[in-house]
Amino acid sequence: GASVEVDVSKVEAGQLTIAEWRGKPIFILNRTDEQLKDLATLDSSLTDPNSTADQQPEYAKNPTRAIKDKENVWVGIGICTHLGCSPTYRPDVGAADLGGGSWKGGFFCPCHGSKFDLAGRVFAGVPAPANLVIPPYKYLSDNVILVG
Ligand code: FES
Repeated sequence: GASVEVDVSKVEAGQLTIAEWRGKPIFILNRTDEQLKDLATLDSSLTDPNSTADQQPEYAKNPTRAIKDKENVWVGIGICTHLGCSPTYRPDVGAADLGGGSWKGGFFCPCHGSKFDLAGRVFAGVPAPANLVIPPYKYLSDNVILVG
């Protein structure tokens, strides 16, 4: 069908799961409270911290880029906005390992080195021009989302 249901209660804190919607990988990340807090410290390193430049759902135009009251759970399309590779989830990789700067882990694109934070926001100075795209989704119940 056109939409896909995901039970996010099975995704543990700090873990990523990948669903598929319209042939695209959908990243579903259950961010820890600490990871959420770190997002607020990154704005000055980012190209578009509030996702104002992109065509994004309203709920993505803020630093956490998630639906209000469900901010730990991030849902994004796992396709690099440069040339379409799939970024890898690298929550524990520090700046020193990946070219310095304020990187605190997130998504790293192996093709040309673009870095995104744990809200899919792109760091300045990498090839990718824009934040990872947020798909349309909503909550059907407390723990079940519908993508599409
Ligand atoms: Fe991701 Fe080029 S496709 S950096």
